[in-house]
Amino acid sequence: MKSAEIRQKFLQFFESKGHTIVPSSSLVPGNDPTLLFTNSGMVQFKDVFTGKDPRPYVRATSSQRSLRAGGKHNDLENVGYTARHHTFFEMLGNFSFGDYFKQDAIKFAWELLTGVYQLPKEKLWVTVYAEDDEAYGIWQNEIGVPVERIIRIGDNKGARYASDNFWTMGDTGPCGPCSEIFYDHGPEIWGGPPGSPEEDGDRYIEIWNLVFMQFERDAAGTLTKLPKQSVDTGMGLERISAVLQHVHSNYEIDLFQALIKAAARETNTSDLDNNSLKVIADHIRACSFMIVDGIIPGSEGRGYVLRRIVRRALRHGHQLGQTKPFFYKLVADLVGQMGDAYPDLATQAERVAQVLKQEEERFGETLERGMEILNNAIAGLKDGAPIDGETLFTLYDTYGFPVDLTADIARERKLEVDMDGFEAAMKRQRDTARAAGKFKAAAGLSYDGVKTTFDGYNAVEGEGTITALYVDGASVQEVSAGQQAIIVLDRTPFYAESGGQVGDAGVLSANGATFNVEDTTKIVPNVFGHHGELASGSLKLGDKLQANVDATRRLRTSRNHSVTHLLHKALREVLGTHVQQKGSLVDPDKTRFDFSHNAPISAEDIARIESIVNAEVLNNEATATNVMSYDEAVKTGAMALFGEKYGDEVRVVDVGSTRELCGGTHVQRTGDIGLFKVTTEGGVAAGVRRVEAVTGDNAVALVQSLNSTLSAAAGALKVQPADLPARLAQVQDQVRALEKELAALKSKLASSAGNDLASQAVDVNGVKVLAVKMEGIDPKSLRETVDQLKNKLQSAAIVLAAVDGGKVSLVAGVTADASGKVKAGELVNFVAQQVGGKGGGRPDMAMAGGTDATNLAQALAGVQEWVQARL
Ligand code: ALA
Repeated sequence: MKSAEIRQKFLQFFESKGHTIVPSSSLVPGNDPTLLFTNSGMVQFKDVFTGKDPRPYVRATSSQRSLRAGGKHNDLENVGYTARHHTFFEMLGNFSFGDYFKQDAIKFAWELLTGVYQLPKEKLWVTVYAEDDEAYGIWQNEIGVPVERIIRIGDNKGARYASDNFWTMGDTGPCGPCSEIFYDHGPEIWGGPPGSPEEDGDRYIEIWNLVFMQFERDAAGTLTKLPKQSVDTGMGLERISAVLQHVHSNYEIDLFQALIKAAARETNTSDLDNNSLKVIADHIRACSFMIVDGIIPGSEGRGYVLRRIVRRALRHGHQLGQTKPFFYKLVADLVGQMGDAYPDLATQAERVAQVLKQEEERFGETLERGMEILNNAIAGLKDGAPIDGETLFTLYDTYGFPVDLTADIARERKLEVDMDGFEAAMKRQRDTARAAGKFKAAAGLSYDGVKTTFDGYNAVEGEGTITALYVDGASVQEVSAGQQAIIVLDRTPFYAESGGQVGDAGVLSANGATFNVEDTTKIVPNVFGHHGELASGSLKLGDKLQANVDATRRLRTSRNHSVTHLLHKALREVLGTHVQQKGSLVDPDKTRFDFSHNAPISAEDIARIESIVNAEVLNNEATATNVMSYDEAVKTGAMALFGEKYGDEVRVVDVGSTRELCGGTHVQRTGDIGLFKVTTEGGVAAGVRRVEAVTGDNAVALVQSLNSTLSAAAGALKVQPADLPARLAQVQDQVRALEKELAALKSKLASSAGNDLASQAVDVNGVKVLAVKMEGIDPKSLRETVDQLKNKLQSAAIVLAAVDGGKVSLVAGVTADASGKVKAGELVNFVAQQVGGKGGGRPDMAMAGGTDATNLAQALAGVQEWVQARL
């Protein structure tokens, strides 16, 4: 049975049991910044289990693309070393949300395995959580599994509920005891049943995990009961395929064999059993789907996991002798295998290949050199010594070797790595970097006063008391006129730079003292420093200041911030949900938004994006801000950014139809944005595009300036602006026609000049000799004229010259009858030498140039004699 059929049969079976087939969700969990990747089928149903997200169905089934390459579930290191581990895999699952529980979950599983898939019952073993007598009883009495093949597994990992038979999604989330079904691949394979000392062998392989969801785990590790008992099951498609295809390793199934052959083809490897091919075949799946889901290689978070996997694949390719980019070529093979089940993969194949290729090129340059460094380090190791931290760090820092990549190489060679040494080297570098980059953030300033209260969400003026003053990085008591300083206030309406929005500018004042604020930043978390210069008077600690934010600047910035939310949504609507924010800068002049996307955006799409955003502006809805718990925010559909740290309480901002977690300042109504206009679109890094746009008076100014450019152009062509394109096309046609006419005239002119010239030729022993300078002629026409003269004169030796700004062009031609004696190449050289040049060429036609026309007339005059001497 092919994998595709196995997948289909699974979904159909559960559909026949009243389950709704739900499509696979993205590898990037929606709205869960705590979870790096979708690691199983239940992730998209997480909030359904906890009751926060009611659905119209209580039974669901899915085939979920999953990734275990980071976070709580990470199999990256094992890929290539076992028959059954993958980074990327497909998880088949059935789910009950407060509907059926243990009994039906077990019965369904048994019916599918032994009835639909026809597995022999005696090959199946099961485990239950040690305390779960109920599940044990069902297996024993209702299914009839002999007790020798039912194994209880307790808290075998050192803590309460830390067990192979107690499943948790991550550090937090729904969880519960589970019952696993194992398949015995037979005595010819080494390994023992679950719970035995040999359980890590490949003989008894877990194929299906039935989780009886009963609890939710919070960040403190406390379990609370779920509102309803539920079921979450997971069966790796690759494992069950191995069983049903009568092979023992997942890598032998149809799907993987095709990829392994493709990897062998691209690395010129003939031994199909080579482990590196398995690694590459596994990794192309993980990497391609990660890119499909909007992740791009980078230096942190998910992007770094992707980079690590790509680099691990490349290193294995390198090991097979492939030093050129090859990995990206496997995308097409993957589409052949999985494109039908995952249409997104098929439509994005080109983009995926392009992102991979760029990453390959980037790493290719240093891989070779890094391997050399590593090999030298290994050669110098004393027996049994680990690879030292400094080497690990150099490889990481200079050659882009993620530390697990080096560890992988070490493992192959049965060596250890000194992780503590690596961490120490990392810390040293971080400390140095921190010390070096301190000015703007004013990090390093010591502050022990109260935190600043920000009053500026709805106000641009207020009052505050000075709690600290700094001049040249040192804390001072007093500041006098003319000094640059940083002022900290206990409360302020000035927004401090964060979340991509620049800090406010404005004025702080008190009787006679005026401090011009150029920028506001947080000098330490929640402490606002006002950077600027004291224009007049003096200030000391404890002074009360009137604070006035530059309101126009703030309003412009707020417009640009609010519109950024609208832009983000419009981009996802027009380009696809792979669009994810990669960075933003919001200041008074513009919004600059970076996001994952791999191709330039067409003019039509930009126009659509502008229209969508402007329609929201015209709706003129009031914006709203609500402070609530993070969980509540996510529940109401707020967009959160992965990698951002959110506290317990978050600010949820609604702008038009968007809802985001955001700490920035915003306009009152979307209509305040005025007008939205994109100014530029371009690429900034592999897979990252940047859009810049303007709003409000900036947009009006832009439109006016575009209009005046247009009017000036229209005026110059004496048409209305609307007629400009047609008029321009007309002008271009005219120019082309004129150019043609000109060329025809030139050649006509040259030919009539040729007639005149022919009459000037002098007969020397039957050969017509002609050497003259022509006026206003280009080198090409010079050649044509020589050709014409040769025809006309029949037997001739000709040199024509033209001078343009001191530069001499020369063409010589000799008819065939004379070229035995008089060679055109020599002839042209004879003249060229006298005008500061050199030349040569064929006996019948040759060209040359010179740099000094002073002796040209004399040189030409000498031609007749020169020819005569040779005839
Ligand atoms: N969520 C369970 C697992 O991944 C089914 O094993």
